[in-house]
Amino acid sequence: MISDPRIGEPLAVAGGRPVRTAPFPSRTPYDSSELELVRQALASQSLFMLDGPEVGNFERTFADLYGMRHAAASTSGTSAIHLAVGAVNPNPGDEIITSPVTDLGTVIPILMQNAIPIFAEVRPDTFNMDPADVERKITDRTRAIIVVHLFGNAADMDAMLDIARRYNLVLIEDCSQAHVTRYKGRLLGTIGDIGCFSLQGSKHMTTGDGGVTITNDDARAERMLLFRDKGFSRAPWGPRKYEFLAPNYRPTKLMAAVGMAQIGKVRNVVERLISLCRELSRLLEGIDGVLPAAVTEGLEHSAWAYPLRVHSGDAARFGSLLRDEGVPNMPGYIGLPIFMCAECCAGKATFGDSGFPFDSPYNSRKLEYNASMCSITAEALRSLVVLPINENYADADLRDIAVAVAKAAQSG
Ligand SMILES: Cc1ncc(COP(=O)(O)O)c(C=O)c1O
Repeated sequence: MISDPRIGEPLAVAGGRPVRTAPFPSRTPYDSSELELVRQALASQSLFMLDGPEVGNFERTFADLYGMRHAAASTSGTSAIHLAVGAVNPNPGDEIITSPVTDLGTVIPILMQNAIPIFAEVRPDTFNMDPADVERKITDRTRAIIVVHLFGNAADMDAMLDIARRYNLVLIEDCSQAHVTRYKGRLLGTIGDIGCFSLQGSKHMTTGDGGVTITNDDARAERMLLFRDKGFSRAPWGPRKYEFLAPNYRPTKLMAAVGMAQIGKVRNVVERLISLCRELSRLLEGIDGVLPAAVTEGLEHSAWAYPLRVHSGDAARFGSLLRDEGVPNMPGYIGLPIFMCAECCAGKATFGDSGFPFDSPYNSRKLEYNASMCSITAEALRSLVVLPINENYADADLRDIAVAVAKAAQSG
């Protein structure tokens, strides 16, 4: 547990000296390696992915990083998950179970494919889906489970895999917040049937925006590659053939260039975050009123962000005290279960005023996306304070965070 004379000082909110006045370090993900590859892409005089090997090389290298047979690059994490759902190819009204604590990018692809998102409760310690509730939510319409590995911590993949196999469901892993993260010796994203990654700016490796979907399944890979390119089978001559309805999520060579350089760095970024996470947990251990990040058994927590839990259940107040001490944070992370944050669920604002696929002959269930749908999750979010962290943080930064937490915790 941390000991520091500043802990005894008055809180900033009561007129005391804030623990921190200087900003925390920001990320510096890019250097000459990205610049050189971007320069080469531009020098080729076409950034279109089919005018050169760059995107294919990036996909091959990403697949190799994970020891997988196939990788399909696309324009965002949302599109990466859409490729996965497109490969599942649900019928309208089929159900896909996912987490209520995630970015809406996990849910959009389900609805865009006219499937029904079903939300399982999360465990109040890890904020990852509770396998027992996932199993309870399975019906004869369930086609897939999208597990979200939140904040760099794994869901209980042994249990998820067991459920998926017993009920013959496709298991999709959303690893947007858990790049190259090991669970019981295996990388997240390689355990289920399909792994999805966001390359958005805050992620362990980033191209600003971008996404990758990986799988060992040849048929699904083929469908994913078609799905990101309008379903276009691109024969060298003859009439065009578009195999099925699909969007255009083709990345450009610019994404591949930046992504290729980022692949060379992502392991170091994750190693650094694993050690920062351990150190911050060590400093926070034993502070009355708070609990350090829960770590799933068999995992190295890659801390996309650091989830602190407060006993008071008043994350908003705790977060505000921390902010006054100069420590940025997100009380409650997304604040409410994702379906309550999103009118496409809560208000069924989907296609025109149809309410499709919720209000349609394809869906016999009458689901209301309100607090009672995941009451354990809604309650758990009230005790969560998410602390931003990145690979440029130094020990002194962690110390300031821990001192501010200890000060705030003392105020009850
Ligand atoms: C867990 C999770 N899933 C999906 C997404 C969607 O990714 P993107 O913003 O790249 O579309 C994100 C990113 O914000 C995320 O954190």
